[in-house]
Amino acid sequence: MKKKALALLLGVCMVTMTACGSKAPEAASGTPAQEADGAAGGEQEAEAPADGDGAAAGEAVAGVVWYNFADTFISNARQTLINIGAADGTITITDADSTNDVSTQTSNMNNFFTQGVDYLVLNNINTGAISEICDQILDEGCYGIFANTDTPTDEDFAKNDKLYSVSSVATQSGTIMGEALAEYWKAHPEADRNGNGKLDYVMLLGIQGHYDTTVRSQYSVQALEDAGIEVNNIGGEIICDYSRATAQEKVAALLANYSDDIDAVIACNDDMALGAIEALKAGGFFAGEDSYLPVCGVDATVNGCQAIKDGTLLVTAMNNPVTLAKAIYKVMYLTNNGEEVTTETIGLEGVSVDGHRVWLDYSPVTIENVDQATYDINDTAF
Ligand code: BGC
Repeated sequence: MKKKALALLLGVCMVTMTACGSKAPEAASGTPAQEADGAAGGEQEAEAPADGDGAAAGEAVAGVVWYNFADTFISNARQTLINIGAADGTITITDADSTNDVSTQTSNMNNFFTQGVDYLVLNNINTGAISEICDQILDEGCYGIFANTDTPTDEDFAKNDKLYSVSSVATQSGTIMGEALAEYWKAHPEADRNGNGKLDYVMLLGIQGHYDTTVRSQYSVQALEDAGIEVNNIGGEIICDYSRATAQEKVAALLANYSDDIDAVIACNDDMALGAIEALKAGGFFAGEDSYLPVCGVDATVNGCQAIKDGTLLVTAMNNPVTLAKAIYKVMYLTNNGEEVTTETIGLEGVSVDGHRVWLDYSPVTIENVDQATYDINDTAF
């Protein structure tokens, strides 16, 4: 650990563990731990690893900048990472909330640089400035790990041996939604509600420019077209920032004009799918068999899985926050030990390594397998 980091560690941990540890999603073993509307659920104290003096001091310090603590998926990944760090004790995890604001992200990063962290983990929202951020990380001399966001370019990686990215293969999640919707459409001629021969869909996007949302929207529609289905977009690009409330509001507004035309909703995460379902219910959908409308999502959150069981959500793509946290921690653990990061050394199911890019697989979740779609944020084995 750098001296600067050691000197500031105690103070940082006190602040971080109080702010971060006080609200944690509750997790029953073997069960996804999520909470309604992205708000944190049960209380759980995150324990700081303690050395002989009672100070939280691992061998290295990580400053983790998350885009938004209130995001359901992120809150689960975040809490798992805190849990792993506390259980293992090698890497001390401190983190900060960018509250979906680029300037807050920048000051969070700068604070961690000032503190001299060994690892800067960035769940980046400033997608227009990736190379600049990479250059800043290079100047600071610490490791940089881009997490669950656009990956740096080959050139960025070539400049810095200490640069990594850990993300899911977003293309898979789009394809999973599109293929399930294509299958439903072909099996249900009545799904063409206005009889125009086209699948009229609404696309709910996350944060503008965010890699996952761009790719999920493209690949879901591509899968429909590949299945020979003619599609028609209703409402254009509807940006909902991955937020349930925003999605609910925007779908409700669309229903005023297009209630008889919409055949499906494709949402780039489960929170937005759940917001859409609420709006659809208020608009008279899901009242009986003849008022069903297929809605697709991504993440397999607890509430997303419940919606599948309830018969409202057609499909979701398992985006495992526990695997994300484990992969991030493992990259730090391996590099801290001077070991290479490879698919074998990472050793996590569904995770592969290509150069300094670490990729996580998605898998489809439907009514057929929803009971197996589980993870446990208290699972600290990495
Ligand atoms: C998840 C979203 C989340 C976003 C935040 C995505 O991978 O699917 O639920 O809001 O990451 O960056």
